[in-house]
Amino acid sequence: MCSSSEAIVPNMNDFLKTLNGEKLKAPPVWLMRQAGRYLPEYLETRAKAGGFLEAVLNPELATEITLQPLRRFPQIDAAILFSDILVIPYAMGQDLQFVKGEGPQLPALDTNDIALNYDAEKLAPIIQTVKNVRDALSAEKTVIGFAGAPWTVACYMIAGSNHDEFSAAKKWAFQSPEKLDALLDQVSDATIQYLSAQIDAGANVIQLFESWCGLLVGHVEEFARFIIKPTQKIITALKQKYPDIPVIGFPREVGLWLPFYVSETRVKAVGLDWSADLLWVDKNLPKNFPVQGNLDPSVLLAGGKILKHKAREILEALKTRPFIFNLGHGVIKETPPEHVAQLLEVIKR
Ligand code: CP3
Repeated sequence: MCSSSEAIVPNMNDFLKTLNGEKLKAPPVWLMRQAGRYLPEYLETRAKAGGFLEAVLNPELATEITLQPLRRFPQIDAAILFSDILVIPYAMGQDLQFVKGEGPQLPALDTNDIALNYDAEKLAPIIQTVKNVRDALSAEKTVIGFAGAPWTVACYMIAGSNHDEFSAAKKWAFQSPEKLDALLDQVSDATIQYLSAQIDAGANVIQLFESWCGLLVGHVEEFARFIIKPTQKIITALKQKYPDIPVIGFPREVGLWLPFYVSETRVKAVGLDWSADLLWVDKNLPKNFPVQGNLDPSVLLAGGKILKHKAREILEALKTRPFIFNLGHGVIKETPPEHVAQLLEVIKR
């Protein structure tokens, strides 16, 4: 692949070079939810497993699912572990179920009952999947491990089955902030252990999904306390143990607080959701800070000319900084796989 400064970081693939600040002619690419329901082969493997969580906890099938998008689309540069952010509450003892049509279900936590216990053994099959995936791929391909950032995971732990605006979690933030601190601390500690195990098993990069970041934008004190602080804790711990493993943050709907999030958390790169204004982002982030994003998944669903047009617009807007092409959120399940092939051709040409 073409690179202007190949000599600076030898022995790295394009994805890792980009995360280390190099600008490449053709950006590396992966897609959030690249393994999932838009792929017939995924549906087949999930059926074999008996369900989503069963597939996540079956190393053989989860390895197969993780590799499916890379087999179908050879231009994809990274495999993201097939798992879910909610396996942390599961390993902390909350009963987790994925109900068809309703999404994930956890029993709602009570502020008086947050003594949970993280059992790393419960996630051993997922760690085995990371090993299998790393073993199956060449060094050209990056393996991305991930977890939810603590605030986002806590949103689900507190919500129970009512996900409307996550008002229960916000109520904790304003009414019982010490309880929320304590919960986030436990989730952070479990997440550090879990991500360390993923890295030990071969993950080359970590992404932290802060999907519900937007819920605290506008509240500077709470944003600093419940989003920045736990994220910082995880990043500091990982940096200490694994100085060469980059962490990508995905603060969805962070809006104008993106520079604040970036400078305070000390993520190595940032994933942008599809609402980010790229010209503003380019002006407001440090020079050479790597960004990832941000095609609207609905544009990928639509396909055709508009897909080419919007993809080129993104490539143009970020052409002077280290950039990884991705979507601004996960692939929508009705997306025809051919649209992904069209997109990859535009990016890699
Ligand atoms: O390919 C990949 O991106 C890797 C696997 C992955 C999944 N979930 C698989 C999945 C990743 C990285 C996630 C992260 C995740 N999970 C997030 C953060 C990213 C985001 O979407 O904002 C969140 C919030 C979750 C929680 C979650 N998991 C929800 C709300 C749902 C139900 C909604 C939905 O999309 O169905 C899930 C289920 C889920 N996680 C599926 C997959 C492939 C669908 C399960 C199925 O097969 O029915």
